[in-house]
Amino acid sequence: MTEFFPILRAIHMSCAALSITGFVLRWIWMLNDSRLLNARASKIVPHIVDTLLLLSAIALVVIVGFQANAAWISTKILSLVVYIVLGTFALKRGRTKGVRTVTGVLAIIVFAFIASVARTHDPLGFLR
Ligand code: HEM
Repeated sequence: MTEFFPILRAIHMSCAALSITGFVLRWIWMLNDSRLLNARASKIVPHIVDTLLLLSAIALVVIVGFQANAAWISTKILSLVVYIVLGTFALKRGRTKGVRTVTGVLAIIVFAFIASVARTHDPLGFLR
């Protein structure tokens, strides 16, 4: 299994990059009332990317072991839930564009925090 670590991590990181790029694009399209938001690809691709991101995350946890990395991995999982909730407010559930703008900015900050936790293996990430 360990021989798959580099490729799984590369898939995981690529999907993370695609996920935030897709989110920011859809957020901007929503704020601009762009028709691109309703394109088929805008609705389908994010699900494929996010599923791969999560599957690769699970495979990576199986390889590195949860026990030994519990602190920073738990922070990532919790922060991911926060990122998803903020993302749904930024794209849809926010009642006004003001709410959607603020929650979108917060979602981007939380995403950067998750990446910093991943890189440092520190549950406080860039907050330390
Ligand atoms: C938005 C969500 C996520 C982002 C942006 C993200 C980002 C990253 C990045 C950038 C790396 C490479 C770190 C490096 O070696 O420099 C990584 C590795 C990893 N991620 Fe994630 N990740 C996310 C979600 C998750 C989740 C939910 C889990 C666990 C359930 C997870 C588990 C892991 C593991 C185990 C590694 C391998 C760490 C190592 O190099 O030892 N990731 N992630």
